[in-house]
Amino acid sequence: MKTKRSWNVKPSKFAVKTVNPIRSIVDNLHINPNTTKSVISLSIGDPTTFGNLQPCPEITSAIVESVTSAEYNGYAPSTGYRKSREAVAEYAFRPDAPLEPEDVILTSGCSHALEMCILGLANPGQNILIPRPGFSIYKTIAQSMEIETKSYDLLPNLGWQVDLAHLESQIDSQTAAIVINNPSNPCGSVFSKRHLKAIVEVANRNCVPIIADEIYEDFVFRGEEFHPIATLSTHVPILSCGGLTKKFLVPGWRMGWVLIHDRQNIFGKEIRSGLQALSQRIIGSNTIVQGALPSILQDTPETFFEDNIEIVQRNAHLAYSILNDVPGLCPIMPKGAMYMMVGIQKTSFSKFKHDMDFVECLMSEQSVFCLPGRCFDYPNYFRIVLTVPEPLMIEACDRIKEFCTNHYTLDTPTSSFNTEMLLKNQMPLQV
Ligand SMILES: Cc1ncc(COP(=O)(O)O)c(C=O)c1O
Repeated sequence: MKTKRSWNVKPSKFAVKTVNPIRSIVDNLHINPNTTKSVISLSIGDPTTFGNLQPCPEITSAIVESVTSAEYNGYAPSTGYRKSREAVAEYAFRPDAPLEPEDVILTSGCSHALEMCILGLANPGQNILIPRPGFSIYKTIAQSMEIETKSYDLLPNLGWQVDLAHLESQIDSQTAAIVINNPSNPCGSVFSKRHLKAIVEVANRNCVPIIADEIYEDFVFRGEEFHPIATLSTHVPILSCGGLTKKFLVPGWRMGWVLIHDRQNIFGKEIRSGLQALSQRIIGSNTIVQGALPSILQDTPETFFEDNIEIVQRNAHLAYSILNDVPGLCPIMPKGAMYMMVGIQKTSFSKFKHDMDFVECLMSEQSVFCLPGRCFDYPNYFRIVLTVPEPLMIEACDRIKEFCTNHYTLDTPTSSFNTEMLLKNQMPLQV
């Protein structure tokens, strides 16, 4: 006979191990704005927050049509409707990286695509290599499944290029994949063709597949070029993760994709079946957005993308020109995406123990909130977003300048800052 036991409901190990470092760092910050100043948040990576960047009519009307057609209310195949996958394959097709609809899996945002790729390639006990500084979700996904993450360094003095020797030194027999993020959050860097080829070469020498987080694809400033890494690989199999989120300014629509590039058939049927099986865990992505995908991808005018990039690039220049003149700060000019990393010279702000102190005090005095570099595993920096309306960008940077001027404690020439940071191999050289 069953006896009634007492209640003892505990979260699973999986739930407990699912930690988003950004949330746990931000939740532990003391964020108390100065009540005499309006809050300017330079922390949120959602380009729609301020209302100045919105999807164009072609994008929104495609959704309206998808809803009113009543054709997309049911379940789709878990990898997505064929018509929608065809549209993505056509959109992402390059002569050097051809794609068929079978090579596309639609996902719930790029985060889901990344999860599918990481869990599709790595077992508990194995490891994946991730960039430092880097977006935190790779670690969140991996560690919850007991997949180890090993960081490889990005070099601020070289435009945040990958330290290739360090990358290669991190590879071991248990390395299941190298994650690269180009253009980068939080750095705003854009890798050259040559550099991407060098990364592919490292992967090729060591027979490790690449997971490419390309959610900021094409979001590059004038004069820069985005190269999908798959176009530069003939042998290394590549899973490219992307979506509508950033380029089309609709993060809430949760539409992403995995593109399978495997010209030598190294992944073969097994990895494809594995990814397909993983797509069945949530029975596929939002069907209304799938219905709208062909129109969104085909009809969105180029001017929409150009105008958005122009706004972000202008903000990047404005922010850089103000912050670069602030003693003790070292902004690194981005080439794309929506962010800028700013180095904090510790010796110039002796009052602050670390970047967390710095951003807390900045908030309490100037009501400007930035994410501390620690959120990206990179102390002594903070990240600002560049998607705010221009007057707010200027106001925020002026307030940061006032704050730094008020707290500047040591008249250390910039060169000492450079030496200090160089020694730590985290050196943002001023150029
Ligand atoms: C580098 C990077 N990858 C992935 C994502 C997640 O994208 P999504 O909102 O489509 O899941 C983000 C979102 O900010 C990001 O910055």
